Amino acid sequence: MIFGRVKPLDAILATAEKKSLHRSLGAFQLTMLGIGAVIGTGIFVLTAEAAQKAGPGMMLSFVIAGFVCAVAALCYAEMAAMVPVSGSAYTYSYAVMGELIAWMVGWALILEYAIAAGAVSVGWSGYFIGWLNTSFGIKVPLDLVRGPFDGGMINLPAMLIAALVTALLVKGTKESATVNAVLVGVKILALTLFVALTIPVIKTGQFTPFAPLGFAGISGAAASIFFAYVGFDAVSTAAEETKNPQRNMPIGLIGSLAICTIFYLLVAAGVIGTVGAQPVFGSAGEALSPGTPALSQACTAIQEAAVVCSKEALAWTLKSIGYPFVGWLVGAAAIIALPSVILMMMFGQTRIFFVMSRDGLLPELFSRVHPRFHTPHVITILTGIFVTLFAAFFPVGLLADVSNAGTLFAFAAVSIAVLVLRSTDAGRLRPFRTPAIMMTAPLSIIGCAYLFYSLDAKTKLIFVAWAAIGLLVYFTYSRARSHVGRGTIEVHEADSDLPPSSVPPIPGA
Ligand code: ALA
Repeated sequence: MIFGRVKPLDAILATAEKKSLHRSLGAFQLTMLGIGAVIGTGIFVLTAEAAQKAGPGMMLSFVIAGFVCAVAALCYAEMAAMVPVSGSAYTYSYAVMGELIAWMVGWALILEYAIAAGAVSVGWSGYFIGWLNTSFGIKVPLDLVRGPFDGGMINLPAMLIAALVTALLVKGTKESATVNAVLVGVKILALTLFVALTIPVIKTGQFTPFAPLGFAGISGAAASIFFAYVGFDAVSTAAEETKNPQRNMPIGLIGSLAICTIFYLLVAAGVIGTVGAQPVFGSAGEALSPGTPALSQACTAIQEAAVVCSKEALAWTLKSIGYPFVGWLVGAAAIIALPSVILMMMFGQTRIFFVMSRDGLLPELFSRVHPRFHTPHVITILTGIFVTLFAAFFPVGLLADVSNAGTLFAFAAVSIAVLVLRSTDAGRLRPFRTPAIMMTAPLSIIGCAYLFYSLDAKTKLIFVAWAAIGLLVYFTYSRARSHVGRGTIEVHEADSDLPPSSVPPIPGA
């Protein structure tokens, strides 16, 4: 039977028991962890793309995406606390819905993590180029800083940062809690400065028309801006290192999401109310999609004089309203802080590959560990090559959308798994229980489906093609080699070497 290959939860938990991670994280650290993983390209860059899709209505888009993340986060937390092992959504699905679904979730997580790392690299590049120009008057030719779908040829700075982060990961760089705290501080400071300077000079007239492209535009922008919230799963995967997870997990998850949502709404209001956020239309009055040559041309025609044309939306806004120095500072903050988001995404990716390889579903070579650096170097380099290529050739919006498709699929799968497990294994100890599960889980599943549906047709097509390739790989390669399929269910001592997926290792943990 196709859904029959379930990896028993007890075998997975036996792996977890071999770990003896110290429970050291409290609500505050968890919240910091969440904010560190969440704030990035979404707010710093994609705000411009959301405006192009929804106009001022993007405020609503931020609320919708934040709500879906909140309910998904609560489901994630129950699983993470109950099955605290590497592999997150992939592992949970293996235990509840069997190997095929787990494989598809793992396959979708490649989109979530690797493509997101590419998206953040492209976002970083936009700020880096703007900052080079402001600081030293260096204007790098457009062909070298944008991919072919975005009016250029190749995005060299994005490739550079992706390659640098790969090198750091191969060497085994771990972001410490201190570095995370400093970077969170830098991001919060930058956004606070932005809000403090823009909110007082808001003009309410800028908010009309509120939805120039209708509710479809708002839904489309919500599906894209969902990217701004991705990363909170880092909090749930830290469950086993959390003191009193029943209390602290929801505070950490909901707390970091709430803080980010408030910042996002204030920042969005600051952009809309000062420089306006109306979309740029084509010469025939047609709506133009972000990240297309048509929009690049329309922007050139108006001398880039709209925030939707900017690749560094927040710095651009501040410069436009007479704060060039603060704009420069915010740009510098993005340049310093975004690489840590790339690092977390790529780290998460290598851990997912590692676990899938250890289950026999991917080549054993993928879980090979470097003798000196003790990192899964083969898979890190392979991931790095792909991330670098995505960053080189694709626009940030497309990458973010494709990443969102994978993430939404994984979140929906986890929400279903939580619900199923409540009835099939009701007696199991749950260190954290999703509140009002009969409402929260269905809301999460419906919310994910709605956002997925609101993604543009191209993104959905890419997702379907990716899923089809995944099925092909599964049935031609993985299925016959699966350890569960062969009847070998191992308990891995080696898991103790692995930090939980997508969580930067925490000193003292
Ligand atoms: N939420 C992360 C970002 O916006 C992925 O960069």
